[in-house]
Amino acid sequence: MSAAPHPTADSAVPGTQDLAARFTREFGAAPAGVWQAPGRVNLIGEHTDYNEGFVLPFAIDRTARVAVGIRQDSTVRLLSTYGDQGMVSASLDALEPGSAKGWTKYPLGVMWALRERGIDVPGIDLLLDSDVPLGAGLSSSHAIECAVVTALNELTGAGLAAQDMVLATQRAENDFVGAPTGIMDQSASLRGAKGHAVFLDCRDQNATLVPFETEPAGLVLLVIDTKVSHSHADGGYASRRASCELGAEVMGVKALRDVQVGDLEEASGLLDEVTFRRVRHVVTENDRVLQTVERLAAEGPAAIGTLLDASHASMRDDFEISCPELDLAVDTARANGAIGARMTGGGFGGAAIALTPVASEAKVRAAVVRAFAEAGYAAPDIFTVSPAAGAMRVA
Ligand code: GLA
Repeated sequence: MSAAPHPTADSAVPGTQDLAARFTREFGAAPAGVWQAPGRVNLIGEHTDYNEGFVLPFAIDRTARVAVGIRQDSTVRLLSTYGDQGMVSASLDALEPGSAKGWTKYPLGVMWALRERGIDVPGIDLLLDSDVPLGAGLSSSHAIECAVVTALNELTGAGLAAQDMVLATQRAENDFVGAPTGIMDQSASLRGAKGHAVFLDCRDQNATLVPFETEPAGLVLLVIDTKVSHSHADGGYASRRASCELGAEVMGVKALRDVQVGDLEEASGLLDEVTFRRVRHVVTENDRVLQTVERLAAEGPAAIGTLLDASHASMRDDFEISCPELDLAVDTARANGAIGARMTGGGFGGAAIALTPVASEAKVRAAVVRAFAEAGYAAPDIFTVSPAAGAMRVA
């Protein structure tokens, strides 16, 4: 995903004061402030966002933090606590797609996208730290982008609403980084709230906070990072998106959001076999998001396990974006007590989630570690997450 080594689940995030102090040492003046933005886990609703459908992600308690100082010229100096690039310098006027490397694509892409919107972005010094695992499907790149857009929105006085910041970071991803992704990840990072998932209608960006807490239900949500790295700038994501667009075109609708489960029989007669399965995933997944929201409200998290399972099967068999490591994580978690499990994020690697009774947590963890060792896979990183606050200023 980037040239930077993975910050591991165990790597300590220096406190805000430490980051500000380090900024002062590196750049010779105190920062104007420190902002943070979280990664996300998608509870359900995969590859539905760019089909103008529904998603249900939440912000996690893993964040990217940026200490930022304004400069008097149009130079940008970027440094991270974990990158291997050292200090990177760029000129605002020379920013264009393809001009940046590694993690610096994300802050520079946001600066470029804000300038494309006509916002007068100053030169800055920036120090990044993050404990969102890279390439794990937890939106480490969006966490960086959302921290930066939140900082610059405030520092420039641009006054962008969350929806506009979502679109600015999407522009950065699509046109500067070159990943044709949707709006889910940055919406979770910018609009998330503690104890809640974000039920987002990706057609109009209407967001509803849905209470989602595992602890009162005696559950934990385990993230199993398979360590299989992925990049949405590679071809798999774009080819799935192209299939969805083809499906919508043949079905004569604006987006697959407009196709219902009851239309699938007709779709099977109109579409080639592969496109039909891609469409069936999106259409049934949208339906599963709506059912998940209903069940959470009526019965709580213990009632959504079968929907998570069905989501995974659909991504494995119809959308074909899982991989052996993700399937093994999901199957092993389920066989050892998880009440529902699925891969999360764009696919082709990254992480699975397993909704697990507290009493089975140790067994699931041990079984997954053992199964990966027996299969000859790299050791997975397993940790719990809970819904946390969205992007904010912390100093
Ligand atoms: C990635 C993208 C999102 C979304 C998911 C799949 O995370 O960034 O926009 O498409 O994949 O649900």
